[in-house]
Amino acid sequence: MIRLENVTKTFRTGADEVHALYDVSLEVAQGQIFGVVGASGAGKSTLIRCVNRLEEPDGGKVWVDGEEITALRGESLRQARRKMGMIFQQFNLLSQRTAADNIGYPLEIAGVEKSERERRVLELLELVGLEDKARAYPAQLSGGQKQRVGIARAIATNPKVLLSDEATSALDPTTTDSILDLLQGLNKRLGLTILLITHQMEVVKKICDHAALLEDGRLVEAGAISDLVADPLRRLSRAFFPPVIDIPRDPRAVHAAITFLGSAADEPILANLVRKFDVDVNILGGSIQEIGGRRVGQLQVEIQGEQMAAAVAYLGDLGVRVEVIK
Ligand SMILES: Nc1ncnc2c1ncn2[C@@H]1O[C@H](COP(=O)(O)OP(=O)(O)O)[C@@H](O)[C@H]1O
Ligand SMILES: [Mg+2]
Repeated sequence: MIRLENVTKTFRTGADEVHALYDVSLEVAQGQIFGVVGASGAGKSTLIRCVNRLEEPDGGKVWVDGEEITALRGESLRQARRKMGMIFQQFNLLSQRTAADNIGYPLEIAGVEKSERERRVLELLELVGLEDKARAYPAQLSGGQKQRVGIARAIATNPKVLLSDEATSALDPTTTDSILDLLQGLNKRLGLTILLITHQMEVVKKICDHAALLEDGRLVEAGAISDLVADPLRRLSRAFFPPVIDIPRDPRAVHAAITFLGSAADEPILANLVRKFDVDVNILGGSIQEIGGRRVGQLQVEIQGEQMAAAVAYLGDLGVRVEVIK
């Protein structure tokens, strides 16, 4: 649905050059919720703005819904942009217009006649749970309500793609959750493809099925969340788990983080380990969390005994993700 091919963007201010994007290629399939994460200044906003050409890439190509966006201009570019809605961290609502009139704005621009517009606005207000706020002005709404207006406005013209630039970064955790639930619902009910950028791993954990990591303008990793979680060597995978704390421990023991996914969680793995390899297993800590709708547990253990290396290898063979820390 969205494809970036070797996209490059350099900003020049005076003698300074910033390579905001460097040879970025990325593919988002129809119906995916794809998260791009990265530190501040990594190029996330530039990337998403290149998709709808709010930013003009210097090189490379962008396709949306089979159409090469980078080849369009004028009226055809305006038409293509209607397939893409966008939401922002600061909501970008028009302060002089009510919620209903903000939502109706893109319909006005698209030339939809008044009665049809009013019908659609009511439908959208209901979709985002703001039936009772039609006449409220942005200043009278909470952050979460403003973002709901932003979302309704973004999907008013039935776009195929929603671009989200840090849409929950200005919201508290509870409101963030409710906005993410709304986005997930729209993805399921309308088949809306969502490309979102965020610096919050929690957002990716909660709603994304795919993710990519952007670092200094380069895409350094991308994949399905289920693959990322299962592979301890991936940087994104590490970011899902609490940092490993280097506690003083027995230097002869192996310190490992064991991650349980799916059916492995139902087996008496540690008991088997002790029995089979005659090792001591000392539990240092543990956590359980939900990532991409699946429950994922992690234990940090110390394993000691003559056959500890064989014991670690056995865990790997069982399909349990094992990261040896030391
Ligand atoms: N309009 C601009 N003019 C000059 N530099 C810019 C402009 N927009 C972004 N940059 C620079 O490009 C880099 C990437 O910015 P941005 O895409 O906003 O990153 P992010 O959204 O990941 O924080 C930063 O170094 C930023 O300062
Ligand atoms: Mg940004």
